[in-house]
Amino acid sequence: MTRLLGIETSCDETSAAVVEGAGDDASMRSLVILSQDVHRVFGGVVPEIASRAHVTSIVRVVERALLDARLKARDLDAVAVTNGPGLVGALLVGVSFGKSFAYANELPVLGVHHMEGHLFATSLEHREAVPPFTALLVSGGHTMLLDVPEWGHYQLLGATRDDAAGEAFDKVGKLLGLPYPGGPHIERLAHEGDPRRFPFSRPMLRANARPGDEDYFDLSFSGLKTAVLHATRIADLEKDRAHIARGFQDAIIATLVEKTARAATRFRRTRVVLGGGVACNRTLQDAMRARMREIGADSYAPSGRLATDNAAMIARAGLFRFERGERAGLDLNAYAALPLPGLAAA
Ligand code: KG4
Ligand code: ZN
Repeated sequence: MTRLLGIETSCDETSAAVVEGAGDDASMRSLVILSQDVHRVFGGVVPEIASRAHVTSIVRVVERALLDARLKARDLDAVAVTNGPGLVGALLVGVSFGKSFAYANELPVLGVHHMEGHLFATSLEHREAVPPFTALLVSGGHTMLLDVPEWGHYQLLGATRDDAAGEAFDKVGKLLGLPYPGGPHIERLAHEGDPRRFPFSRPMLRANARPGDEDYFDLSFSGLKTAVLHATRIADLEKDRAHIARGFQDAIIATLVEKTARAATRFRRTRVVLGGGVACNRTLQDAMRARMREIGADSYAPSGRLATDNAAMIARAGLFRFERGERAGLDLNAYAALPLPGLAAA
């Protein structure tokens, strides 16, 4: 059995976790997530403030994760830290701390790709959420539709051509005068909305689309965002806010679900795994489960804590990389942009 300390500081969550296990038989011993509330007043994440907040709390967050796991540093086998993609100043705090902690305790260190972490998150809660599967990763910074024949082997089928799915939720949240981040607020409001009032067209879903078409798997949300902007100009926001939220959410979910169904059908996958902050959305989870049932597939989504940024998913992905013999040197660096390891274009 292998035990890893995971560290995640790529955006505005300072997180540490301990994961232990072998192969897909892995479980979480502790998980600490400190969300930086300060960005709320700015309506978005301020990178410099994020870095400083990570510096302030990283030591305590790691100590707490070890205490919760009832372990000492000497009980660990390795340290896994997110080294990209993300805010480079924020990433550097985790990477510098991770390397120092590993060096001081004579442990190996390895860098983990943030999105590979999101891919592994669901498997910590659902034993069936392991390859082969179709993956939909929907976060604030990324939207990726992947085929995953095995861990470490990822085929990119589709990505967003403009805004990420979470970014679209956040921007529409802003247009509707909701607090940042908008995603959870839009979901709550949409429950009270009438779906017939603002029937926005579903992005990138042509009736005559065929496999091989350029936009068969691709996603795009900026047009939908513009449609919402126009709607807010003609609507009475006080009365129509929930209806617009409903129309927007219905459109984005319809697209995400249908693109995922296309991918699962094309690759004959019977499992679909969701990841990233938008995967928290229960309406998306329910719609995905219902649609996948129609094509004979099961859909798995992580709970809220594991869907949004957290260090358990980094430790879990790190466990996979560690078992393959991967180690980083003390020259491990942080990168704002970093290609997903093992990624092949379709
Ligand atoms: O994965 P994540 O925590 O951070 C990034 O790596 O980007 O994702 C954050 C995103 C935000 O855009 C937030 O609005 C969205 O996840 N989100 C949601 C919900 N909860 C969080 N979007 C839709 N519905 C939700 N319930
Ligand atoms: Zn993320």
